[in-house]
Amino acid sequence: MMKSTSSAFARIKPSGIRRINTLAAQQPDCIPLALGEPDFDTPPAISAEVAAALARGETHYPPNCGTPELRRAIAAYMARQGIPADPEAVTVTAGATEAISATLAALLDPGDEVIIPVPAFTLYEAAVHINRGTPVLMSTVEAGFQIDEGELRALVTPATKAIIICTPNNPTGCLLDAASLDAVAAVAEEAGIFVICDDVYNRLVYEGPYERFAVRHPELADRTVVVDSFSKPWAMTGWRLGWVSAAAPIAAEIAKAHQYMVSSVPAFVMPAAARALEVDPTPMLDIYRARRTRVLEALDKMGMPPAVKPAGAFYAFIPVTQTGLGSEEFCERAIVEAGVGLVPGECFGCAGFARLSYCVADDALDEGLRRLERFVASLRG
Ligand SMILES: Cc1ncc(COP(=O)(O)O)c(C=O)c1O
Repeated sequence: MMKSTSSAFARIKPSGIRRINTLAAQQPDCIPLALGEPDFDTPPAISAEVAAALARGETHYPPNCGTPELRRAIAAYMARQGIPADPEAVTVTAGATEAISATLAALLDPGDEVIIPVPAFTLYEAAVHINRGTPVLMSTVEAGFQIDEGELRALVTPATKAIIICTPNNPTGCLLDAASLDAVAAVAEEAGIFVICDDVYNRLVYEGPYERFAVRHPELADRTVVVDSFSKPWAMTGWRLGWVSAAAPIAAEIAKAHQYMVSSVPAFVMPAAARALEVDPTPMLDIYRARRTRVLEALDKMGMPPAVKPAGAFYAFIPVTQTGLGSEEFCERAIVEAGVGLVPGECFGCAGFARLSYCVADDALDEGLRRLERFVASLRG
């Protein structure tokens, strides 16, 4: 008899978003409003740095946590955002994806519980399983996608190790309000747990008030882990570049996880990453803002408004059960029958909704919305 593969991985399903994208790709002429990535190319000023780095021969193993120049640039960038960071406590990672995975690897012992307010980015739950932890999902739907202190406190057990928060949120575009951030702080302080802040959309905010946990609660810097990424603000998803910053003792453990799992990010992309930090992403934000208006108007017209008006990121999270379909069926049939791709809420731990992404050019967005309108009308008979 042969031994089995890891039981932790047996619990994880391949990403549902990929499955939907594959289904959409198989459908001729489908308009995918499903992708969580900017449709823009990386600004040329950033990309140009790669050729220059290669010409300088920057093709050798770099320092594990990133070049001193890039770590200093990130720390200075964070300081400008109101989050003091020591360059030595910054690790440059293969996207926020690795930052989150390395953080959980560094923090968790087998059986530790991690509270995940849902809907949430799929990675969190999988990464907790991979690290032999137990995800504890906390639905925020009833609380309007905010975090209720009493509910959060009720989920804390002696095994609770951390909570992962994300604002602006994927998939809702919601910003956590001050009361939510304070609830997390109060519970984290009482229970001595870590707060992992997935802040990858922090530059994509349309209207405030917006506050980051690390800025509002500097007194908890000893247990706060800040994750950020080059992917979203500078249209650099394919570069696979992000970072994580934490207090020195935690950062040292995360650096070990990173060192043994990844070693480092490529040497010749790091000058470009440092350059990106100086590039203003506002022109792209303005385009998303205009698209958001188009999306909200169209959804309103078809009687399918999002659960909340998105104030950040580039998603609308739409309740779909009023059409008589569950969200998986809604999204699958929208692809096959109408040629428009959306992601079912199940992919974010929250059935009954579909995520629409407006990371597509205006013409495609308008056509995708027209198709969605026809599809919804056909369901209503
Ligand atoms: C909330 C959230 N966190 C992290 C990531 C991963 O980003 P990266 O490309 O930096 O790995 C994504 C990507 O969609 C995301 O939506």
